[in-house]
Order: sequence, then C-alpha cells, then structure tokens
Amino acid sequence: MAPMGVVGCGAMGTAVAELLGHGGFPVLLAGGRRRTAERLASTIPGATAAPLETVALEGQLVILATSLEVSRREIAPRIHDHLVGKVVVDVSNPAPADLIGSAHDSAGEMLAEHFPKSPIVKALNCVSARRLRMIAHGGQAPTVPIAGDDLAAKQCVTYILRRLGLDVADAGSLRTSKWIEGLAELLRSLGSEEGLGDAVGFRLLRLDQVDRTSAGRAAIVPADRYDFGKEQG
Ligand SMILES: NC(=O)c1ccc[n+]([C@@H]2O[C@H](COP(=O)([O-])OP(=O)(O)OC[C@H]3O[C@@H](n4cnc5c(N)ncnc54)[C@H](OP(=O)(O)O)[C@@H]3O)[C@@H](O)[C@H]2O)c1
Repeated sequence: MAPMGVVGCGAMGTAVAELLGHGGFPVLLAGGRRRTAERLASTIPGATAAPLETVALEGQLVILATSLEVSRREIAPRIHDHLVGKVVVDVSNPAPADLIGSAHDSAGEMLAEHFPKSPIVKALNCVSARRLRMIAHGGQAPTVPIAGDDLAAKQCVTYILRRLGLDVADAGSLRTSKWIEGLAELLRSLGSEEGLGDAVGFRLLRLDQVDRTSAGRAAIVPADRYDFGKEQG
C-alpha cells in the first residue's frame, strides 16, 4: 500500500500520524524546522521520516497538518507540482487574521488556490489533536464533516477515516468548508462555556436511520398495511 503523507509533526500531525500508524497505514512524515519527523516516526508503527518533496511524490495523498499560513507560503510553493491529481487533506482552522482581505470565506477554499492541480478535502479540523490521539486508544469517535469538490477524493478520505474508526459525513462542496470551520469555532466556544475544554465533539444524528432501526420500523411498512378501510370492512 502506498504511504499516507503527513506534513507537520506538531500536535495535529502527531495525532493524525499515530491514528494512521495504529490503523495499519504506512505513513511518510515531513516536519519543519525542529526536525521532529525522525523522532516521531520512530514511535509509530509503519512510519518513516522523509523530506517534504519525497512525502509529496510518494504519498498516496497528503494531509497538511500545518498552519494555513505555513501551508500557503512555505509548503504549497515547494510541492504543489508534485501533487498533481493527488488528494490534499486540509485540517486547518484559520486564525482570525487569515481571511481578512481574502476573496475566500474559508481556509479550505483559500488553500485550493495554492494547490490548483489537486483535489482539496476539508476534514478533521473539528476534532482536537488530543481527542484524536485518544481515539487511537479506543476513545469515543466523533463525526468528521468533510467538504470538497471532487467526489472520488472525498470517497478516498471517507474510506480512510472510517477505517480509523471515525464517523464521516459529507457536507458538500468545498464552499461548505466555511461552515465546518465555523463548527470548530462553535465547539471551542461550547467547550469553554461549559467548562469542558476539548472534551466536546460533534456527532451527526441520522434520524431516519434511527427510526428504521428502532420503533420507527413501523413507519416504513408497506402502504397496503395502512388500508384501514379494507381492514374495517
Ligand atoms: N491542535 C489541534 O487540536 C488542532 C485541531 C484541529 C485542527 N488543527 C489545525 O492543524 C494545523 C496544525 O496545528 P497544530 O496544533 O498541530 O500546530 P503545531 O503544534 O504548532 O504544529 C505545526 C507544525 O508545523 C510544522 N511546520 C512548520 N513549517 C513547516 C514546513 N515548512 N514543513 C513541514 N512542517 C512545518 C512545525 O514544525 P517546526 O516547529 O519543527 O517548524 C510544527 O510541528 C493548524 O492548521 C490547526 O488549525 C489543530
């Protein structure tokens, strides 16, 4: 299996790489200035540290676990040409200043401009790095809303995230990134106001499915069962 590329070995890069490694995926890791990739790779099964360009060339897809600013200014110029046709996963939440003066409403759309030949999938930004690490050890899994304009790219990301034990919900085109990024803000605010910190998460209730599997089973019985006139006659 071709490895998953992870760029950034900070809080989020570590969490994503651990989840992938423990989930049986080979991982290629690129770090930043502090050269943390080698150290991190030595702690994760199936992980290897490599230069950024190698991660882009050999990775099946690339997960950008760096700040939006670093992804745009430092990473995209070096690797966007190596990523033609490859999925780029954007986990970022923009800082308030990031979108000022931008023509875009979200980090996801902004990043797409810097990777013009790659399908961008927004994902994982609504889960804190600490919570993600707990999922690798059996913690409760939230729903990960994803967004993107390329259906095959979203299917690929969905497959991987589900294999890692996460619930995935497709929010639609990349334009919906702004709402997914807003959801991360909301969760932060809820966690703070409720005194729960990052021990809050989003889980999508699929009510029709619940109905079908519980008492609501009766709601989809064949129509002729409702022919009261016949029964009464
Ligand atoms: N932390 C969370 O709970 C969380 C949750 C959801 C989403 N996110 C998003 O995840 C992204 C990363 O956040 P974080 O908390 O992981 O930040 P972080 O801990 O500061 O990590 C950022 C990493 O990026 C690396 N980096 C900088 N320049 C690089 C380059 N040119 N090539 C490769 N790596 C480079 C840094 O490495 P050096 O220090 O060695 O330079 C650092 O390890 C952000 O966009 C954030 O919005 C974070």
